[in-house]
Amino acid sequence: MFWQLVLLAYLTGSLSFAILLSRLAGAPDPRAGGSGNPGATNMLRLAGKGLAISTLIGDLLKGYLPVLLAAMLGLTIEQQAWVGLAAVLGHLYPLYFRFRGGKGVATTAGTLLGLHPPTAALALIIWLVVFKVKRTSSLAALAALPLCLPLLAWQQPEALLPMTLLAALIVWRHRSNLRDLSVGKERHF
Ligand code: G3P
Repeated sequence: MFWQLVLLAYLTGSLSFAILLSRLAGAPDPRAGGSGNPGATNMLRLAGKGLAISTLIGDLLKGYLPVLLAAMLGLTIEQQAWVGLAAVLGHLYPLYFRFRGGKGVATTAGTLLGLHPPTAALALIIWLVVFKVKRTSSLAALAALPLCLPLLAWQQPEALLPMTLLAALIVWRHRSNLRDLSVGKERHF
């Protein structure tokens, strides 16, 4: 059952809501404008609040639902965490879009929500505070997730390896943002 769920999570994680919803709505392809990232932030820049919120919810559910299903089927916390990681890997390297996906923030948040809701709430609070002060989505994500993922592993030690990999992936996928932040060129709202 574990490997079937890992595969299912990867396949559903590969559904890029930013790309699919922009196609459906006739909005600009998020890969071709703004930061070029198929995610909720870039959808907000290019297509407005409605599509950005829909993208956020869809990408979040891709992380949350497989973890919830894994828990309902009695998988261990460690197995649930690997299932969540598979969902995020689908988002980052989607099978249906030539393995060119997003940065994984919303899907990771969904995984956190499935694994440990209080840690997900803390991540949301950090994200909101940093975003309110700095008006920069990438900085808010980089402040919230690489901190909260190890925190979750501290509370659920079995999840240490998948959560460490997840934190590293989030930082790796934000490397262009880190470059832009370091030279003061990052996009603000
Ligand atoms: O959720 C992605 C965000 O952290 C950065 O997005 O479009 O500003 O590179 P973007």
